[in-house]
Amino acid sequence: MPDLSNARVGVIGGSGLYAIPGLDQAEELSLDTPFGRPSDVLRLGTLQDMETVFLARHGRHHQLLPREVPYQANIWAMRQLNVRWLISVSAVGSLQEHLRPRDMVVPDQFIDRTQQRPQSFFGDGCVAHVSLADPFCPRLSELLAEAAASAMPAGHHLHRGGTYLCMEGPAFSTRAESLLYRSWGCSVIGMTNHTEARLAREAELAYASLSMVTDFDCWHNDHDAVSVEMVVGNLKANAVATEPILNRLMLSLNEQRPSSAAHTALADALITAPEH
Ligand code: ADE
Repeated sequence: MPDLSNARVGVIGGSGLYAIPGLDQAEELSLDTPFGRPSDVLRLGTLQDMETVFLARHGRHHQLLPREVPYQANIWAMRQLNVRWLISVSAVGSLQEHLRPRDMVVPDQFIDRTQQRPQSFFGDGCVAHVSLADPFCPRLSELLAEAAASAMPAGHHLHRGGTYLCMEGPAFSTRAESLLYRSWGCSVIGMTNHTEARLAREAELAYASLSMVTDFDCWHNDHDAVSVEMVVGNLKANAVATEPILNRLMLSLNEQRPSSAAHTALADALITAPEH
């Protein structure tokens, strides 16, 4: 197992979460990686004595479409800064009646429907097949869910587990697609997390998602179809709720520094080094 005593926590904030107030005084790092520049500067500071790195996934001015996010550079930069636990905070649509706007979900599975994303750090003669059977780190997800359950402001509800459908976007789904995803048993729909989780696994980072529900997508007869106004309105309320949750999570991560199967994902992968 790797030495996690100096490891950091990364937080990638999605639409609506462009900073963490507790990291306001943080150092700003402008990094370059073999995959280009990350979405924005990385903010390096401490939350509850835990060294934390924050990155705005779409850039601080929300200038990147889901497919334009430099996922490889983002994950590479996190690993370069010795991040070994990565938390995604993301807006999602609900595909289930009981998952209501402003609820939070800590999903445990994915279905990927993206088509235009980097799928891997590997290639060019270097072959590795990491396991994605459990794409989210179960222990990190559990700690995140515990933190959310205990620190979530009134008016929000937490749901543990569920399948995140990752779509390409940027347009939202058709009604037929939304109904199809419901028939597959999916819980929430978003545009980013699967790409990130897959690369995080290859980079041996434990990954978990705080998925914040902003809408009922377009399947629900009693609710208007998702619109940007709907997403933004609920996101603002949800973004406020994240700070106490992240603070609580940092306390438990600092105390426990849990190791994860993800931290040694490449040990079990089949790797063919390039011939020289
Ligand atoms: N993000 C927030 N709501 C969404 C939806 N309905 N579909 C895809 N991504 C979303």
